[in-house]
Amino acid sequence: MNSQNPIWHFPLWPEQASAYAYQVDQLTYALIALAAAFGIGVVALLATFAIHYRTGNKGANRDGAPSGLIWLEVAWITIPLALALGTFGWAAYLYVGAQTPPRDALTVFVVGRQWMWKFYHPAGAREIDELHVPLGKPVRLVMTSQDVIHSLFLPAMRVKQDVVPGRFTSLWFAPTRTGTFPIYCAEYCGTEHSRMRGRVVVEEPFRYEAWLRASSTDGTLAAQGARHFRRLGCSGCHMAGGGNGPCPPLEGVYGGPVPLVSGEVVMADERYLMDSILRPNAQIVAGYGPMMPSFAGQIGEDELVALVAYLKSLASAEEGE
Ligand code: CUA
Repeated sequence: MNSQNPIWHFPLWPEQASAYAYQVDQLTYALIALAAAFGIGVVALLATFAIHYRTGNKGANRDGAPSGLIWLEVAWITIPLALALGTFGWAAYLYVGAQTPPRDALTVFVVGRQWMWKFYHPAGAREIDELHVPLGKPVRLVMTSQDVIHSLFLPAMRVKQDVVPGRFTSLWFAPTRTGTFPIYCAEYCGTEHSRMRGRVVVEEPFRYEAWLRASSTDGTLAAQGARHFRRLGCSGCHMAGGGNGPCPPLEGVYGGPVPLVSGEVVMADERYLMDSILRPNAQIVAGYGPMMPSFAGQIGEDELVALVAYLKSLASAEEGE
């Protein structure tokens, strides 16, 4: 056998480029092993009995067939039950981890459109169909669409999430090796869906920093958002008079609880900030009236992500990099 032959290097799985990818593969191997063990066992017994007890086999002893074996019945109920609940628990543990980004994750905004991916770094750099990230730092993607539903798929990280117009969805991953890994759109979105591809470039932190500095020429994303905030007239109402003005103050809102007129309390995440800009009267802050106009259709997704980054920057220095 010649190990140079490409058949021996045929990839059954995409490469693993995150810790989560390794964990997902372990679970997949375990499920395949379980299915194979039960599948092979059942088929082997089936074939053995079918041949041995076939019509006309005089050698088969058909006397004294057992009518009930309690220990066997208990075993075939409890063992598969334990295995099924065990794999459920394992998968649920991984799923919860995949839905819970670490606090220190770098947030990159993503806008999908027919047919490209746009990435917005907090430092201000923008990219199309290419996403630079530093090695070893968790990266959280906060994503929306400009037109139809897309789905961002990073096979090497084993993560995929629908990207939906009018709302933010998110995913996160922590790259564990440098290199270039494919990005796909995994939701049919029109003629050139199959060409809606890109790549993640995982680099050593110093290289990433150098790239980021060279690419962030227009100020940080939050600074761009601050300019939109003034140009669109938001500052006239939200900043004047602080807490005593007609509109709720925005400092310190992001990341905390917001009490609503309805009595509900919501967490101010990116999704809440976006909703407040596009559908301001859906969730009115307690103590205020429904007086803000909707900016849906007035601003593009570019402005929207910059505005959200600006509102986040009012809350903390977290995204200051
Ligand atoms: Cu975008 Cu398919």
